[in-house]
Amino acid sequence: MNLIQVPTYADLSRVAADLICTAVAHNPRSAIVVATGDTPMGAYVELAQRHALGQFDSAHLRVFQLDAYWGLPPDDARSLYGWMWRSFLQPLHISDAQVTRLKGDAADPAAVCAAYDAAVAQVAGFDVSILGLGPNGHLGFNEPPSPADAPTRMVNLTEASIASNARYWGGREHVPPQALTCGMAPLLAAKQTLLLVSGARKRHILQQTLSGPITPEVPASLLRLANHVTVIADQAALGG
Ligand code: F6R
Repeated sequence: MNLIQVPTYADLSRVAADLICTAVAHNPRSAIVVATGDTPMGAYVELAQRHALGQFDSAHLRVFQLDAYWGLPPDDARSLYGWMWRSFLQPLHISDAQVTRLKGDAADPAAVCAAYDAAVAQVAGFDVSILGLGPNGHLGFNEPPSPADAPTRMVNLTEASIASNARYWGGREHVPPQALTCGMAPLLAAKQTLLLVSGARKRHILQQTLSGPITPEVPASLLRLANHVTVIADQAALGG
């Protein structure tokens, strides 16, 4: 696991965008799984600016949704697909045909998850995985405990995630209690992972991720078993 320490969130966003651009320049058909949440938003703005300048070609990317609240239609502004569309797909002019969704309102969640894992296998795994770090160590919605072989599946959100996401929903009682998430197995098999970590509230969990026990109780710690993982963390998250 490689750690890049940067002073500020702006630096984190620029470095992440640099690494994504390099990977996509090397392989324009990269299969890329894309987190929402606050942390990668600065990197996505950077990518959109570079795209507008003709410096980032998204035309051949194959994009995978990382997770979805269960029970929300995709046109619900609170859905994670909606967030991904506003922050990543639309600014980068990525078409629907390039996107593999996790449909939070499908009739059969198990079938959706199996089809998703089949689609990941079809592209021979993710080339690039862009992740944020949950305050409880979750990746996507792989809540603790999540073993390394966990497939894409429906999960119950932990109290910690419900509390953390309450700010987007106007109170914890409004947060959907279940979600679909890309599994640990496809995430750990990614050829390159970028874990973006910003802010003092991530300090403790970042330390556990980097140097605590490698355990399903801190799903992000399992990234230490994976290949080509880069953690980009700002000074606030690193402390000291
Ligand atoms: C978002 C996601 C989550 C977030 C994590 C960190 O699609 O899957 O795992 O990446 O909760 O969220 P922020 O970046 O808002 O601190």
